[in-house]
Amino acid sequence: RGDPRLQGISDAIRVIPHFPKPGIMFQDITTLLLDHKAFKDTIDIFVERYREMDISVVAGVEARGFMFGPSIALAIGAKFLPLRKPGKLPGSVISEAYELEYGSDCLEMHVGAVQPGERVLVIDDLVATGGTLSAAIRLLGSLQPQREAIVYPRRTSTIND
Ligand code: PRP
Repeated sequence: RGDPRLQGISDAIRVIPHFPKPGIMFQDITTLLLDHKAFKDTIDIFVERYREMDISVVAGVEARGFMFGPSIALAIGAKFLPLRKPGKLPGSVISEAYELEYGSDCLEMHVGAVQPGERVLVIDDLVATGGTLSAAIRLLGSLQPQREAIVYPRRTSTIND
């Protein structure tokens, strides 16, 4: 809020009405990734916010959290942890299911990837219902890390919002 970089970031996100279904205003961050200044400003803002917070793990939510999380992790000196959709990880996993508007999905992480007490920052491109983010927090919370870092300050909207 009040940061002059935010307008450029917002302008770089393309909004596609009625995708992937009628009524959804899709927030397309691929255009932000193609805009070097907006992409760098996005990463820099997170790095400035979290670099002094003793975060040892950045967890990115598949798939779009993978586009921002690793850059932030490297810059703040943290590890990167992919939180994956089901069936993708080869080792022993712990899982957390969540509800979608139609149906349900699941996030998984490898057992032992995070130690109890580590401070984790969860990164995704956006929050809509919050179901995905809540599942990520529950998944990580089952290891008893501190539940306080998080998120990207942008919310999707529907045509009727
Ligand atoms: C999108 C988005 C978030 C989630 C937000 O991912 O990248 O992860 O939805 O919605 P929510 O707050 O209602 O849970 P999507 O499920 O489309 O998966 P993708 O990134 O693999 O395309």
